Amino acid sequence: MASLQFNVRPFRAIVPSRPSCLPKCGRIQCSVTSTHKRYNITLLPGDGIGPEVISVAKDVLKLAGSQEGIEFRFQEMPVGGAALDLTGVPLPEETLSVAKQSDAVLLGAIGGYKWDNNEKHLKPETGLLQLRAGLGVFANLRPATVLPQLVDSSTLKKEVAEGVDLMVVRELTGGIYFGKPRGFGTNEKGEEIGFNTEVYATYEIDRIAHVAFETARKRRGKLCSVDKANVLEASMLWRKRVTMVASEYPDIELSHMYVDNAAMQLIRDPKQFDTIVTNNIFGDILSDEASMLTGSIGMLPSASLGESGPGLFEPIHGSAPDIAGQNKANPLATVLSAAMLLRYGLGEENAAKRIENAVMETLDKGFRTGDIFSSGKGLGFEGSLLFLPWGRSLRPNVSSTSL
Ligand SMILES: NC(=O)c1ccc[n+]([C@@H]2O[C@H](COP(=O)([O-])OP(=O)(O)OC[C@H]3O[C@@H](n4cnc5c(N)ncnc54)[C@H](O)[C@@H]3O)[C@@H](O)[C@H]2O)c1
Repeated sequence: MASLQFNVRPFRAIVPSRPSCLPKCGRIQCSVTSTHKRYNITLLPGDGIGPEVISVAKDVLKLAGSQEGIEFRFQEMPVGGAALDLTGVPLPEETLSVAKQSDAVLLGAIGGYKWDNNEKHLKPETGLLQLRAGLGVFANLRPATVLPQLVDSSTLKKEVAEGVDLMVVRELTGGIYFGKPRGFGTNEKGEEIGFNTEVYATYEIDRIAHVAFETARKRRGKLCSVDKANVLEASMLWRKRVTMVASEYPDIELSHMYVDNAAMQLIRDPKQFDTIVTNNIFGDILSDEASMLTGSIGMLPSASLGESGPGLFEPIHGSAPDIAGQNKANPLATVLSAAMLLRYGLGEENAAKRIENAVMETLDKGFRTGDIFSSGKGLGFEGSLLFLPWGRSLRPNVSSTSL
């Protein structure tokens, strides 16, 4: 029975309400009686290539769902520049309200030249930060996987890049980006200073640690906690708490690494990592570094999860205004974000696997967008085509010429 397939006990112990990274028990129980599950998904296409890639991901979700007895109800809402043009604000209240009431949120991308000179509170990016805060998503999961078909796209030597499959779990709502006091002032010599505060409370460390241990459990069972505990007090507390939480996960192999060493090891021997957990600022930097091991920003998905409520799933790339509207965007980062939505947002592992297999099969067949096309390899295709393993393509516009 579907409701018995998920091990929810460890999460229930940490948080009173259902974390978004778990299936909704009520809905899963529904599935036991009806075998037909229904989820409400908020789609936030946003700007630039956002609508293009979301449209593909929506079709893929529908098709994968139909194979697994899942029905999706999609509601499309404006965010970012699109919302500014429509309503004058980058995150309308109604968008947040619909998003909060849904089972999961899939975002395209926001931003564009048109709004670059807006005041800060009227920038598309502000809408994205408000959305993350409004949904209370504190855990950011970013996989970096070097697919065998794309190993030549990595800037690292083939023998270093081949087989890399890691996940960075980044704390998203605490640390130095939010810590107070912060600001500008003058020192005793009368010089201007800028200052920020790196601060973590135990509950913030514990909850991200639990997400990381659970994530490692779904992967290869190895977790590396990255900090700067030789210098920073906040990191000393981080290491202490992560070590304490580890006692609840005897099946997970925990190690600790200083951030400077981690930055080096990611380039030297990235295959040593399975799951990495780290604070907000280190995660910001290391997840970008890790993503570049894979070669293309157009392939990388992400998930942001909270203690309760829907998770937010989005490609890591931006709105790519330079290629928007030209049918050149690689939709796979968003399609893989939809797979993360199924796995981490809804607990629909089979449907998630279907999508991931479809992506692999598409690449195996040699189809490539411009960003992942290497000369002499692959057929090339216009951006929004995706082949699915159950034998049909989502778009008829196959092109056998490279972009
Ligand atoms: N989460 C988000 O929505 C997000 C993230 C980053 C940047 N942005 C915004 O996006 C806008 C453009 O920013 P940028 O140029 O620094 O970053 P970007 O990720 O939009 O683009 C960087 C480069 O990668 C290419 N690229 C990105 N996604 C691609 C895809 N799916 N397929 C093929 N090529 C792809 C682009 O064409 C561009 O050359 C800015 O307004 C920025 O603020 C939004």
